[in-house]
Amino acid sequence: MNRKVYVAPSLLAANKDHLNDEIKLVESLGSEYIHWDIMDNIFVPNIALNSKQLHANYNIHKMVNDVHIMVINPMDYAKEFIENGADLVTFHIEATKDEEEVLSLIDFIHSKGVKVGISIKPKTSPEAVIKYLDKIELVLVMSVEPGFGGQKFMPNALEKISFLRKYIDENHLNCLIEVDGGINDVTGQECIKAGVDILVAGSYLFGHEDIKERIAKLR
Ligand code: DX5
Ligand code: ZN
Repeated sequence: MNRKVYVAPSLLAANKDHLNDEIKLVESLGSEYIHWDIMDNIFVPNIALNSKQLHANYNIHKMVNDVHIMVINPMDYAKEFIENGADLVTFHIEATKDEEEVLSLIDFIHSKGVKVGISIKPKTSPEAVIKYLDKIELVLVMSVEPGFGGQKFMPNALEKISFLRKYIDENHLNCLIEVDGGINDVTGQECIKAGVDILVAGSYLFGHEDIKERIAKLR
């Protein structure tokens, strides 16, 4: 079976002074998703993009505004980013305290007409999210410790992707698998073989003259 592979350029690596140009460029090169990294300097030791930047750019293109919130208080951030144009909000399972919180986040995000993703960090087993896969649209496997772009791909992500692919297919679920961190032409192909649907890539794409060829090589 030939699965369609989508590309989600991560704006963390883009030129923040010209976000609109960067967004239009990757759209013109065929990207289907645009990945917004949001950090609170607590869940991860860094700060990335903000809701003003999303608000100013969410509707200048037709890609999916894929908002990845790396924060300890996902409900507040989900609200803020939905108000400012998120189409998909992905929160971290490690930032939630119990199943009740996870289910209320899923219900809240869906009640706003927005898609839901749940992410797992490199040390978290995919078993932690299995019970939610029939309720959400995306599962995000982090292939680096979240917080910074430009890190090296951690190969244990491949087993997690294969495990999730098998579970999703066997149970006929409509949940996409996304991978984020250290993706390039080589690691991207490994993830595709393992069964991924969406490749997030930041430093491999932005700032390179041959970004067009790089996007093409990812698929
Ligand atoms: C890291 C972020 C990623 C980051 C990936 O915490 O979630 O989206 O931009 O950057 P690269 O592709 O450079 O590893
Ligand atoms: Zn991300």
